[in-house]
Amino acid sequence: MRLWLLVLPLLVSSGVSTLLVRDASSKVIRVPFSKERVTHNQVNKREPASKTAVQKLDNKDFLFYANVTVGTPPQHIRLHIDTGSSDIWVETANSEICSQDGGNRCYIGGTYDNETSSTAQYVEGDFSIMYVDGQYASGVYAKDTLGIGGVGVKNVQFGIGLKGTSEEGVLGIGFEHRQSRVLRGLDPYPGLVTQMVDQELINSRAYSVWLNDLNAAAGEILFGGIDAGKFKAPLVTIPLSKRTDLPSPIDFIITLHGLTVENGDGESNELMNTSQSVPALLDTGASFTYLPQYVADQLIELVGAVTVPEYKGPAVNCSKRSLEGTVNFEFAGVTIKVNLRDFIIDATDEPNEDNHILCYFGILGMSEGSVLTLGDTFLRSAYVVYDMDNEAISIAQTIFNSTSTNIMEIGSGLDAVPSATRSTTDVDSIVVTATSSAGSTTDPAPKSTGSPNVTNSAATILSGASTKLLASLLVSILSFAIFL
Ligand SMILES: *[C@@H]1O[C@H](CO)[C@@H](O)[C@H](O)[C@H]1NC(C)=O
Ligand SMILES: *[C@@H]1O[C@H](CO)[C@@H](O)[C@H](O)[C@H]1NC(C)=O
Ligand SMILES: *[C@@H]1O[C@H](CO)[C@@H](O)[C@H](O)[C@H]1NC(C)=O
Ligand SMILES: *[C@@H]1O[C@H](CO)[C@@H](O)[C@H](O)[C@H]1NC(C)=O
Ligand SMILES: *[C@@H]1O[C@H](CO)[C@@H](O)[C@H](O)[C@H]1NC(C)=O
Ligand SMILES: *[C@@H]1O[C@H](CO)[C@@H](O)[C@H](O)[C@H]1NC(C)=O
Repeated sequence: MRLWLLVLPLLVSSGVSTLLVRDASSKVIRVPFSKERVTHNQVNKREPASKTAVQKLDNKDFLFYANVTVGTPPQHIRLHIDTGSSDIWVETANSEICSQDGGNRCYIGGTYDNETSSTAQYVEGDFSIMYVDGQYASGVYAKDTLGIGGVGVKNVQFGIGLKGTSEEGVLGIGFEHRQSRVLRGLDPYPGLVTQMVDQELINSRAYSVWLNDLNAAAGEILFGGIDAGKFKAPLVTIPLSKRTDLPSPIDFIITLHGLTVENGDGESNELMNTSQSVPALLDTGASFTYLPQYVADQLIELVGAVTVPEYKGPAVNCSKRSLEGTVNFEFAGVTIKVNLRDFIIDATDEPNEDNHILCYFGILGMSEGSVLTLGDTFLRSAYVVYDMDNEAISIAQTIFNSTSTNIMEIGSGLDAVPSATRSTTDVDSIVVTATSSAGSTTDPAPKSTGSPNVTNSAATILSGASTKLLASLLVSILSFAIFL
């Protein structure tokens, strides 16, 4: 079914209403998000209070925030969207962190009070999550109505953070088998996206993310839909890579078949071909893009970046933004082109003494055998449909700053994603093996000061996770440990 939604530009730009235009017949939930840049040492890091499994979180340079409401009457909260973790948790006014500074500490993100919500339900068990960067939250579980994109999703289970490191909660929308409970050996509960399907608000467990230009103020998630106004056809569906030891995927990993650099004159140079295919994780939670070391080295050299130990990424003169050309990422049946200049990111928000001369080059190397991570510096150039029901990704070249809107419902079943073509290439997705991942512990991961290190995180994982999941989780968790 196709639905054509005309969204009044006025409503969109006013920012007044968090309840967006929604066609009553449309099973699409449209959630705009804002982006904010964070500095790394702003978070007050403390020793984790409990031993729990480690999750990743977009704790990186760019955070994506959605406005939601929790409870009845609605309490307004903004949450940090994360496709790589699967727990939702909110702050509450009397939590350890929010009650500091005269109780005003969490005013930006907002807090939730279950006592004033008539729809709050008690859920047994303790909530506890730990992210790779050392941030954590722990408290209790609850269920309540979650308002998002103008609809109310009932009985959504989430954590109420009582202790933790962050003033703001998280909207984790990854696979349910990534819930912190599951990492502790317990069964998963229905996540937000599953609840949306069960309550017939969307047709299947799929959502699309338009990250847009990182410099643009906003992007958009559509639960149960795609916006054909935001990408260039073709939109190609690629099956997720399987892990050898798990029945189904728990991460959005697909196979990268090749990589070329193209200069301003259209001449290209191959850095990786199909014989060097590797699994790559699509991760909105990572700011940078991690490629095989030999590929990264060539690109780093090409732009004249230098690796400085104190910086978390290779440093480059910002003037290199004048370089023409693209890095072309080849997947089965589709190539995503990323402008070279889009990998060059201001290292600081404030002009430094060199007048903003310092930039990061957003491509880093990873040792052989690790799962590569395609983070925001790549994903901004892609429109991505995360189809959990079909265990697939549909991907297309984005259109930056597109103001055109053509929202279509995602149906259910095999060809649920409208306008998407199944990848015609025969090359199967690569199987991700647990052993290949363990190698990433030894990655010369760039460090930012003041963070716990990889060894630490791994130890924390080991203390909590069920051993069966553990090996495979290490694949991704350790590959997320880059900024540590
Ligand atoms: C969230 O709500 C705040 C306050 O009403 C508003 O300023 C902001 O633009 C909203 N953000 C999004 C992404 O809708
Ligand atoms: C409400 O939340 C508090 C934590 O803030 C928790 O201790 C209490 O059990 C919750 N009440 C219900 C009914 O869930
Ligand atoms: C998109 O908009 C942002 C903010 O206005 C701007 O900085 C950026 O250059 C635009 N991107 C493109 C590719 O036009
Ligand atoms: C792929 O690249 C490798 C290493 O550069 C090269 O040896 C091989 O011939 C290439 N294969 C094809 C099909 O181009
Ligand atoms: C950066 O590049 C500009 C333009 O090429 C040059 O003038 C400047 O000296 C460079 N800065 C550094 C620190 O190399
Ligand atoms: C890094 O790990 C080592 C060895 O486990 C530990 O001694 C050290 O304190 C850790 N550093 C940080 C910053 O956590």
